[in-house]
Amino acid sequence: GHERAEFLTSLFRSIKGFPKEGINFRDFMPVLENAEGLQIMLEGLEKALPIPADEFDSVAGLEARGFLFGPALAARLGKGFIAVRKAGKLPPEVIGEDYTLEYGTARVEVEADAVSRGERVLIVDDLIATGGTAKAAADLIRKCGGTVAGFSFVMQLEGLSGIEELGDYPTSTLVSMPA
Ligand code: PRP
Ligand code: MG
Repeated sequence: GHERAEFLTSLFRSIKGFPKEGINFRDFMPVLENAEGLQIMLEGLEKALPIPADEFDSVAGLEARGFLFGPALAARLGKGFIAVRKAGKLPPEVIGEDYTLEYGTARVEVEADAVSRGERVLIVDDLIATGGTAKAAADLIRKCGGTVAGFSFVMQLEGLSGIEELGDYPTSTLVSMPA
């Protein structure tokens, strides 16, 4: 309920000026460090699934912080986990998707056989800001022949239209904060 959301929000640490000037960094790590926070987060994600658990096949987590709870959530739901990595970390064959950042470009990759044709995938990450990272992951899942079933985030940064950027997918976020 409301109290749980407030508690979860309170665990995010804010660091002004990191990683560069003008950014108020919202640090997810204290949620994991707190035994109660970790439980509340996992229960919250499970309860607030954007679609019923029987309407998707697997959970894809985004490096790095989506790796820290994606497999735990997948295990609770009886699903497998797909690792969406940053470029150059996975052995061949890989399928990749380039995307544009504020400055320059980035690339996400999965192992070529990680997603089956028609596999319905829930994409998870700790936080959505501009939506660029999650959008790239969705494009990548589709490029692999999979279907994006929806998105789950722990934190949404307000005022950046990250969710709108993703299009029409079912999406859930547990808590939100100003960007
Ligand atoms: C952060 C966060 C999301 C992404 C959200 O990751 O964990 O993955 O930014 O931003 P966006 O919605 O504007 O794309 P970061 O790039 O800091 O990398 P990390 O998770 O590997 O630390
Ligand atoms: Mg990240």
